[in-house]
This record gives sequence, structure tokens and C-alpha cells, in this order.
Amino acid sequence: MEIRTETDADRPACLKVVTVAFAKDDGLEPSETNLLRELFESAAYMPDLSIVAESGGAVVGHVISTRATIGGQPSLGLGPIAVTPRLQGQGVGSALMQASIERATVADESTIVLLGDPDYYERFGFVRADVLGIEPPEAWGRHFMVLPLSDGPLPQGSFAYAAPFRSL
Ligand SMILES: CC(C)(COP(=O)(O)OP(=O)(O)OC[C@H]1O[C@@H](n2cnc3c(N)ncnc32)[C@H](O)[C@@H]1OP(=O)(O)O)[C@@H](O)C(=O)NCCC(=O)NCCS
Repeated sequence: MEIRTETDADRPACLKVVTVAFAKDDGLEPSETNLLRELFESAAYMPDLSIVAESGGAVVGHVISTRATIGGQPSLGLGPIAVTPRLQGQGVGSALMQASIERATVADESTIVLLGDPDYYERFGFVRADVLGIEPPEAWGRHFMVLPLSDGPLPQGSFAYAAPFRSL
């Protein structure tokens, strides 16, 4: 498996992976698909932080982090992340998370923020964000998580995802 930066040519495959990974029984396109479509076109898109997992010549996983803010200071919002269902539970998601964290650290980013299941994200060092002075736009409770990337003071205040998240 190769972990590499997404290219324009990968985008249909990334959208497909997200669609099947988030599919529900209703047969409708999950909201995460259009979110990703809009993030690809957004001013908040950061090329190095859109990362694919490729296996056997096919995209089998994708993660994207985009420009977000905490109290007006730069942060990253991670998501969506998705792995092809038949390959879930084999470390692909972890490899994508590790690559995101490494790249964000090298880029001197302060924080990565996400909304997700603590049982999954705590293993990468994410902790509950609101107790560290980062305010969610809604009552997201323990699912609102942050990974501090340096020892310096954390940005404080209201968290805002990239615009496409706000129309979800
Ligand atoms: C979440 C996801 C990206 C993880 O990728 P993956 O390749 O399956 O993950 P890994 O193989 O690296 O890790 C598997 C571990 O994560 C756990 N896990 C996977 N999804 C989880 C979830 N939603 N909540 C809690 N734990 C989860 C598995 O139980 C497994 O635990 P173990 O290591 O203790 O056995 C993938 O399962 C997926 O695409 N899910 C559907 C889309 C989704 O829910 N995205 C995240 C929204 S927050």
C-alpha cells in the first residue's frame, strides 16, 4: 500500500470511497460525498493534506484536512476520512491519520481538530477539545477533539471549519 498526495485524477475515486464508506441503507448519496466535492473546490483546500491510500493501482482510502480557525487563528479541520469497506480494520485508516499528523507537524500547524468517535481518535493522541478552551459551534461534547501539534500555547476561542462544513 502506498500513502501519497491526492492528484486531480484521483478525485472521482476519492468521492467513490467516501460514498461507499459512509453509505446508509436509504440508497441516497451520503452528505460526506458532497462535502468532499466542495472541499476539493474550496479556498480552504490544502494540497499536501489531501492524502490517498493506493493499493493494487486503486484508491482504497482518503483523508483530507482543510484550513479552519480557532479564535481567528489558523487550525486544521480533519475530515472526511474513509476507507473502502472491504479493507477496513487493516490499518489503512491509521496510516492515513499518521500521514496527516506528520505532514501537519512538518508544516508547523498548531492543531488538528475533528468531530469523531473518541474510541478511534484517542489512539492518535486526540483529546476532548472544549476542556482546552476550544469552543465548538454546536454542543458536540466528547466527539469534538483536538490534537495539539506543539508544546506552545493552544489557540483559544471559537472553532470554525472550512465553509463547506457549515452547509451540512
Ligand atoms: C473510520 C475508518 C476511516 C477507519 O479506517 P480503518 O482502516 O478501518 O482503521 P484501522 O484499520 O486503522 O483501525 C481499525 C480500528 O479502528 C476501530 N474503528 C474503526 N472505525 C471506528 C469508529 N467509527 N469508531 C470507533 N472505532 C473504530 C476498529 O474497531 C479497529 O479497532 P482495533 O484496532 O482496536 O481493532 C473506516 O472504518 C471508515 O471508513 N469508516 C466509515 C467512514 C467513517 O465512519 N469515517 C470516520 C467518521 S468520524
